Amino acid sequence: MPRSNAVVPDGTISSDQLASELRASVRNGTLRAGTRLPPSRTLAGDLGVSRGVVVRAYELLAAEGYLLSRQGSGTTVAAVAGGSERAPVAPARPVSNPGLPSGDTFPRAAWARCAARALATLTDADLGYGDPAGLPRLREELARYLGRVRSVQAPPERIVVVSGFAQASRLVADVLRASGDPRIGVEDPGSVGLREQLETGGLTCVPIPVDAGGLRVDALGPSGVRAVVVTPAHQFPTGVVLAPERRHALLQWARDCDGLVVEDDYDAEFRYDRTPVGALQGLGPDAVVYGGSVSKTLAPGLRLGWMVVPPPLLGAYREAKYAADLSCGVLDQATLAEFLARGEMDRHIRRMAVEYRRRRDTLAAAAAAHLPGWSVDGTAAGLHLVLHPPGGDDEALAARAQAAGLDARPLSRYCVAARRQGLVVGYGHQPAADLARAVAALGGQAAAGRGTVSSRNRPSSRATASGSSSIEST
Ligand SMILES: Cc1ncc(COP(=O)(O)O)c(C=O)c1O
Repeated sequence: MPRSNAVVPDGTISSDQLASELRASVRNGTLRAGTRLPPSRTLAGDLGVSRGVVVRAYELLAAEGYLLSRQGSGTTVAAVAGGSERAPVAPARPVSNPGLPSGDTFPRAAWARCAARALATLTDADLGYGDPAGLPRLREELARYLGRVRSVQAPPERIVVVSGFAQASRLVADVLRASGDPRIGVEDPGSVGLREQLETGGLTCVPIPVDAGGLRVDALGPSGVRAVVVTPAHQFPTGVVLAPERRHALLQWARDCDGLVVEDDYDAEFRYDRTPVGALQGLGPDAVVYGGSVSKTLAPGLRLGWMVVPPPLLGAYREAKYAADLSCGVLDQATLAEFLARGEMDRHIRRMAVEYRRRRDTLAAAAAAHLPGWSVDGTAAGLHLVLHPPGGDDEALAARAQAAGLDARPLSRYCVAARRQGLVVGYGHQPAADLARAVAALGGQAAAGRGTVSSRNRPSSRATASGSSSIEST
């Protein structure tokens, strides 16, 4: 049994302190059910206390049900719910996501420096309940960052700091539901998690088809919705970019029906063949609720994101955020503000873009070499791409790809009315060598006839010796 550190001023332990330590040990499973405790005289000798101290502690815990004392058989630990039989905490549902960033390159040292500085500079008042829209300093830094990197028109007073796009979509649901119009358009194929957030928030999702030019804006009118969530810079999961004429048509649709576009700008910082296309919000700030997060650039576990909201809706979004959780944690917000202000975000994105491009190119090259007849779809951007096999059921193919070590999901799972097959493959969190090995292993299993990956999908130009044209959207 562990010796106690809990001592009273004269250097000995009290019976209450001993009981408290033993109770904690039973609860956390250190003392397992059935364990026999030392006789009171022995433990008292070990601890240098009178026997009465141990007897009183044992009696108290026996009365509480943590210990069993039987004449002749000593004192043993009782079976306590949540005690020694407790299973390790496991997530209720594994979080499946093909767009995970690399975990082992998280800038721990820079983040730690920024956190230390944030802690040192936060005022006592900052540690109180803050503005539900977020720490002013972070909103100022985000305004600069989003304007510079994503061409978003984001004055600080229009920004609401949220815990990721997941919360942003939930707030969209809250505000729309309250407005009395609970229908919203979603891309098909599109994010399953997004649909779940919106539906749990009380909305009805209406699938709007996606083709090679992104969201079919012409389908919005007939659908009757007056709000739609869209991923213009890099459609999830197909990887296409919203065509320029559709960007204008989408904003026009919103103006015509007094509707709302919710822009999910989830991974737009990473584009490998050209400068990222600016956010749609920059073209139509009054018709767009813009959302983004650090989940792709840094780590999803940080749970930090932002919304940029048109002025007439600001009050509703601030209230929805307040009702959800009052505000985001101030230390994380202040740390991100430092991280942005010191240029750490820019440095990290620059570094990771080189690495992610290498991973994507390796994956595409391996597909060309080992998966004859398959094609690679999607713009050279983000942290995932879509592999199209020449045939076969994508559920079965995804299982084979996973068995070969590839983070692959069937495209059909992201479809509502659409009928699309393919493999959505995340490459952000796997080293290039692992990706190459996994594709070679999958190729080894493939029974398909020989062929080549279509030319539009060769690795992006700057990474190939030939300098051939870059991967573009289908
Ligand atoms: C389409 C899409 N949007 C947004 C996100 C980011 O969500 P969050 O910011 O809540 O982590 C993801 C994450 O994978 C995503 O796939």
